[in-house]
Amino acid sequence: MEEWTKTSWRTKAIKQQPTYPDKSELQKVEKILSKYPPLVFAGEVRSLKHEFAKVCEGKAFLLQGGDCAESFAEFNADNIRDMFKVIMQMAVVLTFAGGCPVVKVGRLAGQFAKPRSSDFEEIDGEKLPSYRGDIINDNNFSEDSRIPDPNRMLRAYNQSSATMNLLRAFAKGGLADLHQVHKWNLGFVKDNALGGKYKALAHKITETLEFMEACGITSENTPMINETILYTSHEALLLNNEEALTREDSLSGDWVDCSAHMLWIGDRTRDVDGAHVEFLRGVINPIGIKAGPSITPDELLALIDKLNPENEAGRINIIIRMGADKITSELPKLIRAVKASDKKVIWSIDPMHGNTIKASNNYKTRMFDEILREVKGFFDVHKQEGTFPGGVHLEMTGQDVTECVGGVVDVTEENLSSRYNTHCDPRLNADQALELAFLIADSLREAKDRFKNQEN
Ligand code: PEP
Ligand code: CO
Repeated sequence: MEEWTKTSWRTKAIKQQPTYPDKSELQKVEKILSKYPPLVFAGEVRSLKHEFAKVCEGKAFLLQGGDCAESFAEFNADNIRDMFKVIMQMAVVLTFAGGCPVVKVGRLAGQFAKPRSSDFEEIDGEKLPSYRGDIINDNNFSEDSRIPDPNRMLRAYNQSSATMNLLRAFAKGGLADLHQVHKWNLGFVKDNALGGKYKALAHKITETLEFMEACGITSENTPMINETILYTSHEALLLNNEEALTREDSLSGDWVDCSAHMLWIGDRTRDVDGAHVEFLRGVINPIGIKAGPSITPDELLALIDKLNPENEAGRINIIIRMGADKITSELPKLIRAVKASDKKVIWSIDPMHGNTIKASNNYKTRMFDEILREVKGFFDVHKQEGTFPGGVHLEMTGQDVTECVGGVVDVTEENLSSRYNTHCDPRLNADQALELAFLIADSLREAKDRFKNQEN
């Protein structure tokens, strides 16, 4: 294989990139970014890979979730705190009911750049370049707003670093303490049936902690009780930004993309000979591969070979996003091909991107029941194939938005407009995200037990 450098992607065909009008400004920004401190460290990236290896073996479950696109406008402490809380709530539900450790990975602290289905957007006869995420241009529909500005990368870096700082404080500074499990219940969730269900679970956890304490297991001698780790991830789409944040680990000589712990390649940029695959093959981070209905088993195997030639466990996370109608027909052939060639991978499910529809009032939305149906289909196929359903990948928020239709606290097509705040795709609100966690917990328990028995 040709030699990899952090710039070798520049010689390959590339999709979904902005055209910056001022190249010297772009270079100036890249230079500044390349001198900034890393957002994550090589040791943390290795720890995540180690956790992912356990998911590969069926001994842990991956919960990955967060915004479709982070935005500059919605950047504030409450949003970060509420996202942290809802991820913690879901993780507790899955850990307790599923009986296995949950690896938590946020789509945050860097999830800014968006692939678009069209290069242009047209409103009332006016045609402008598409919005590509706050790291590139502005969502506002005007000519000036849509011009790509490289300085936005610096703002995104600053926002990511402040987000990261707060997340680290929450994770180690007390908010993740299992004794606080009641307090993660967000105001609006508290008052409905789901809130009650969560409260009952929180009560059981509190009782268990009391029992453990009586046996001498406390947070003083067992830090796992009051600390956690929330890893970060985003789509490695804007390669100028990823390259500028890539560093050589001085101890090992390994290259690490220090913009996040885990990076993924989108369904639209996963060309095996393209720039995105070229860039990611050379960094040691765990890598996600989005796989939609157009992927063939041979393409998937070629991608895995290129990105993980040593077949290292914990390196590859295949993120399936077929849509509820296609999951049971499309997934088995991929699983069989990977199994037949003995590749070590995590299988996870993104039930969001294959289930986007337009509501009758033109809002882009997703039906909660279809999201659930794809997740269930994913678990069913793995049961049939004897493989482990390793994780879920969700677009969600800790806020009480109305972007996806359905769930116990029924969001309807009619009320989508009341709190439709997303900068890109519709997200599950905190209620819907928690409900989904409750609804998949039993399937997870079944899969985990099945896997354990298989081993024995
Ligand atoms: C995304 O995860 O936001 C996304 C664009 O996904 P995909 O590449 O699967 O379409
Ligand atoms: Co999205």
